[in-house]
Amino acid sequence: MRPFLYAQGNQFCSFRSKRFKVAAPKIMNQRIVMSFSVSRLVARLTCLLLLVALATLSGCQQHSKVTVLKFAHSLPTDHPVHQAIMFMAKRVDELSHGTMRVDVYPGGQLGSEREVIELLQIGSLAMAKVSSSPLEGFIPEMKVFSMPFIFRDSTHYWKVLNSDLGKKLLLAGENVRLRGLGYYDAGARSFYTVKKPIYKPEDLSGLKIRVQNSNTAIQLIQALGGSATPIAFGELYTALDQGVVDGAENNPPSVYTSRHNEIAKYYTLDKHTYVPDIVLISTYVWKGLSEQQRQWLQQAMDESVAVERELWKKSTQDSLKKIEESGVKIIYPDRQPFADKVVRMRESYKGTPAYDLMKQIQAM
Ligand code: GCU
Repeated sequence: MRPFLYAQGNQFCSFRSKRFKVAAPKIMNQRIVMSFSVSRLVARLTCLLLLVALATLSGCQQHSKVTVLKFAHSLPTDHPVHQAIMFMAKRVDELSHGTMRVDVYPGGQLGSEREVIELLQIGSLAMAKVSSSPLEGFIPEMKVFSMPFIFRDSTHYWKVLNSDLGKKLLLAGENVRLRGLGYYDAGARSFYTVKKPIYKPEDLSGLKIRVQNSNTAIQLIQALGGSATPIAFGELYTALDQGVVDGAENNPPSVYTSRHNEIAKYYTLDKHTYVPDIVLISTYVWKGLSEQQRQWLQQAMDESVAVERELWKKSTQDSLKKIEESGVKIIYPDRQPFADKVVRMRESYKGTPAYDLMKQIQAM
């Protein structure tokens, strides 16, 4: 017997085979239909096990009258983004008078960002916060956020995120069962290295730099003369420590809260990209929520975006200070030579949706 499980439209989960069908009771508006090629007894037992498994695995659960949404992300609990997510969870609880709950699983407990995106797609997980970088493997338009040197500064970045274009991009994944609820600030990404400082692009030559799971990020490192190695965020501390890579790139709060400054000794603030974080909900789960529940969730999300932006500013300054105090040399390079080196790489996207979006962003 090779059962398969799927969920679609107004929620079907089914197991199929040749001989007969057993209809199980409805759970959470999901009709379970099962069919088997073995005896009726085995069928019943299997059915029971399935119901238990579904109750454990489903991204959206109902305990008596409480709707529970499982939420995963990859960052540590002292990271400002985690704190904003916890604020959102608290607001959902308050707005719904305890009838809706967001359970947060931080630190990559439920898998890498790519893995949690896949869990959202099958509805095994309700919500996640991921970087828009790995999302480009699912939603090609997201490549635009990993394009280097397209945002002039943080004001330009937020102007774009809050624009119609930004809002449209949040919904660009609906056809792949991913709905964006909002953006969180993830600042600017810059290089940090273990042994060799980077003052100019040429210094990247011969260095292995960890990147997120994104082709655009790989091309960026190559354009600058380095060699790119995609590694999950949760494995990066060990990879830096063991010399698997010579450096990585990220914003100050992520470097500091993940303690990468214990290993890397140079941080070069070239600010090559502004890659926002995105809160996603599985469209299966979204469709299963009532109008009122969707409104509570969206309101809580919007409020948490404002909270996160404030937390972000403070955390960026504090983290940079603490990184420096821990003995890391902070380098403020001339950004122009880095920007010049990636022009050809950006032009190679001509003819793709990301290129058109990039042009619109640059014109804003
Ligand atoms: C940022 C981002 C994370 C991501 C990480 C990474 O910190 O907020 O979502 O996992 O970068 O480089 O992988």
